[in-house]
Amino acid sequence: MSHGVVSMADQFHFDPGTYLEMVRAEVPDYEQLQEVVAEAASEIRADTILDLGTGTGETLRHVARRHPTARLLGIDESDRMLDVARKVVPAADLRVARLQDELPEGPFDLVVSALAVHHLDAPEKAALFRRVAARLAPGGRFVLADVVVPDDPNDAVTPLDAGYDLPDRADEQLQWMRDATLTATLRWTQRDLAVLIGDRKRY
Ligand SMILES: C[S@@+](CC[C@H](N)C(=O)[O-])C[C@H]1O[C@@H](n2cnc3c(N)ncnc32)[C@H](O)[C@@H]1O
Repeated sequence: MSHGVVSMADQFHFDPGTYLEMVRAEVPDYEQLQEVVAEAASEIRADTILDLGTGTGETLRHVARRHPTARLLGIDESDRMLDVARKVVPAADLRVARLQDELPEGPFDLVVSALAVHHLDAPEKAALFRRVAARLAPGGRFVLADVVVPDDPNDAVTPLDAGYDLPDRADEQLQWMRDATLTATLRWTQRDLAVLIGDRKRY
């Protein structure tokens, strides 16, 4: 499927053919991060799941294993990355879209995202969290795994590209989740990686 728009990811950053090899080398805790996301996702009964920044489909694949009957939807600005994901998670509806734009129509029981939201600047992240909260079903959960600015500068170990990788602190992002009316908790941290959870109230 050709899209006509060349994304930042396509131009400069991610080669779908070598992505997994590259990310495993640059993020040694990559597999653990995906497992923590899938575990947090498994605590919610989910019929509908949205993945933000699907890439080659690794996050959605891990989460879908815990929710085999759920309707899966994923968005990414790179159609080339999604072409790989279409083979990895064939049941998913995968769409070319930017995280800064309107999200697909919900509601979703689960919204997940790994290693993608740090490409947004701080106001864009806060705005995204508000749009996620608006798309979550009552009792729904947002699981966000990403590179963050760590407390200890020595823990900033993930290679970053200036201008494209824009991590923020985990505590700031938890506050933006709260500002978006979600109940926010820090589930896991490892050096400059974190998994944050934002739960929408049931009533
Ligand atoms: C590092 S990959 C992560 C993919 C997958 N979640 C994983 O953990 O392997 C980041 C993905 O985010 C996408 N991305 C980056 N900025 C984006 C944006 N503003 N809107 C939509 N997708 C974006 C890239 O195209 C890329 O596929």
